[in-house]
Amino acid sequence: MKTIAIGLLGCGTVGVGVAKLLLENRALIQSRLGADLHLKYVADIDTTTDRGLAFDDGVFISDAFTVVEDPDIDIVVEMIGGQGIAKDLILKAMENGKHVVTANKALMASQGNTLIEKAREVNVDLAYEASVGGCMPIIKALRESLVSNHIRSMTGILNGTCNYILSRITDEGSEFAQVLAEAQAEGYAEADPTLDVEGHDAAHKLAIVTALAFGMEINLADTYTEGISKITPIDIDFARQFGYRIKLLAIAKNDNGKIEARVHPTMIPESNQLSKINGILNAIMITGDAIGDVLLCGHGAGQLPTASAVISDIVDIARNIMAGIARRIPVLSYQPEHIQRIPVMPMDELFTHYYLRLAALDKPGVLSIVSGVLGQHGISIKSVQQISRRKAGTVPIVMLTHHARELDIKNAMAEIAALDVVEDDPMVIRIEDESNHV
Ligand code: HSE
Repeated sequence: MKTIAIGLLGCGTVGVGVAKLLLENRALIQSRLGADLHLKYVADIDTTTDRGLAFDDGVFISDAFTVVEDPDIDIVVEMIGGQGIAKDLILKAMENGKHVVTANKALMASQGNTLIEKAREVNVDLAYEASVGGCMPIIKALRESLVSNHIRSMTGILNGTCNYILSRITDEGSEFAQVLAEAQAEGYAEADPTLDVEGHDAAHKLAIVTALAFGMEINLADTYTEGISKITPIDIDFARQFGYRIKLLAIAKNDNGKIEARVHPTMIPESNQLSKINGILNAIMITGDAIGDVLLCGHGAGQLPTASAVISDIVDIARNIMAGIARRIPVLSYQPEHIQRIPVMPMDELFTHYYLRLAALDKPGVLSIVSGVLGQHGISIKSVQQISRRKAGTVPIVMLTHHARELDIKNAMAEIAALDVVEDDPMVIRIEDESNHV
């Protein structure tokens, strides 16, 4: 039986999961693959902490460059993370003719175009299923299952930490900081949790799948990114009253060549299937011209779910090696000559409807001043709610709008924020429902 040698770089949470599956499920994988996956090296700067795994002598080493330089290694699995040494090692591995598997979403989103070009130049495979949505096979779906479709849109919950925080606040009234600490303790949150909370992690993932879906280069720079740190329990309560839930959504749309790519807190109807995806789960709804809607859902983080996606990439590449080929499936789903540099639509041009909340003085005429400003900017109000006066000071005024242009909302909100009768910055949350479908 053919043996394929694997070199694993990084033995943190996911790295341990990959080693564990390769060692403990070795016979199972062999029975499906028809070859043996031999874990020749596991490299990590910390070789003293017990990982609970029984490595043979000489497997667990501290020098990652030994792995990428070893001529026996067929596939290098990068589980280090970050954009420094991880990138150097991937490039060196590819230059040495090794295929690469990575779960590194930040690196793929920021520098994936360079890595993809290098893989093409040296004719090796580069696979990154675990970079988006943990065990959900979204990249496989886009690169293989859905190739006959014009993808119209993808709407995803791609950050488990934010989904966990919002779900716990919504359903249990938990405190933001306490729930974030729990997500960190469970190992879901990034090392720097602002990557989760401010939407960057979801944006990394969205930039990758947007490229795959629409035949464009990865474009993180133009992916609009807004996190959940300003969402308050008041907004969650109002959302409930209006029949919505607030989710951090990653949305990509292709409306006749006009590409939207945006991550932001979003109100969606409670009846929407994504409203039911709670806790640390991820999900993505893909809409295509042949399929209609397909919903993928699963653990977007965690040791074994993420490792499962990594192993699926290793097995795909191993099958190519056994067949004596490389790059059978284009890295970004489209043949390189069909990948375009398509600009993402500026956020100011977005049309959607909005939830607006102001802290306004409770006195005669305030509502008419505010609605006057909205009217001057062409914004039509669908409904208004004002909480009755409890004591002197401000009261929340909440408005839902009909479809409006983002730029007009922005300008109107700046004007309203400057009014003497309004305190604090107004809260703006975009609403996504059936009327937003392309
Ligand atoms: N921090 C990420 C999340 C982990 O919370 O979803 C998986 O990418």
